[in-house]
Amino acid sequence: MSSPLVVAIDGTSGSGKSSTSRGVAHRLGLRYLDTGAMFRAMTCWMLEHGVDVHDPVAVAARCHEPEIVSGTDPLGPTITVDGADVAVAIRSDAVNAAVSPVSAVPEVRARLLQLQRDVIAADGGIVVEGRDIGSVVVPDAPVKVYLSADPSARALRRAAEQGSADVEATQASLLARDAIDSGRATAPLVMADGAVHIDTTPYTLEEVVGLVVGLVEEAGART
Ligand code: DC
Repeated sequence: MSSPLVVAIDGTSGSGKSSTSRGVAHRLGLRYLDTGAMFRAMTCWMLEHGVDVHDPVAVAARCHEPEIVSGTDPLGPTITVDGADVAVAIRSDAVNAAVSPVSAVPEVRARLLQLQRDVIAADGGIVVEGRDIGSVVVPDAPVKVYLSADPSARALRRAAEQGSADVEATQASLLARDAIDSGRATAPLVMADGAVHIDTTPYTLEEVVGLVVGLVEEAGART
């Protein structure tokens, strides 16, 4: 029997990764995993427990403590830390500012990689979104997509999602995170070998979902 389908979707913040991934999972009846939410949940716990997020040694020392659980329903993804729902808290400005340094700590990545692989290995196909899914988490995924978009388009989308009027500040925050995510030593944001690059700037969400569903169908036709 062939192994369940894994669709790996990587890209920068605000490129449309989450909406696309959820849309593709819903259309194809697959599960959905938002690995960024796991890094955000880890960051939330560090902030709540007074850990200095700019001290990699302190972060590494405590990163095995939080119990992080992700739900995989694309219509209602959930995330809890030590049993508490953190879906809203993980989108705060404080977490936005701290998540990239926390994500750069190798011990954090190793811990979450194990959790991610456990979820992926459970029953059923899955769409997984993040920064290193096609390169590190599931390098043999049959479908790999890399999404990007113009910084101004990304900032407009993200500001609209967050109900913020300050598009410039949103853009600055996105670009600062990109710089750390792409420049870190462990599992930086890269376009994975074999990934198909889609610049989402000129497309609607439905169009991007359609393009990715087309790639999945093509991959199915080849195997
Ligand atoms: O996708 P997002 O914006 O919610 O991700 C938040 C942060 O988590 C992002 O700035 C970098 C980190 N991240 C990562 O390092 N690796 C992943 N696979 C997913 C997210």
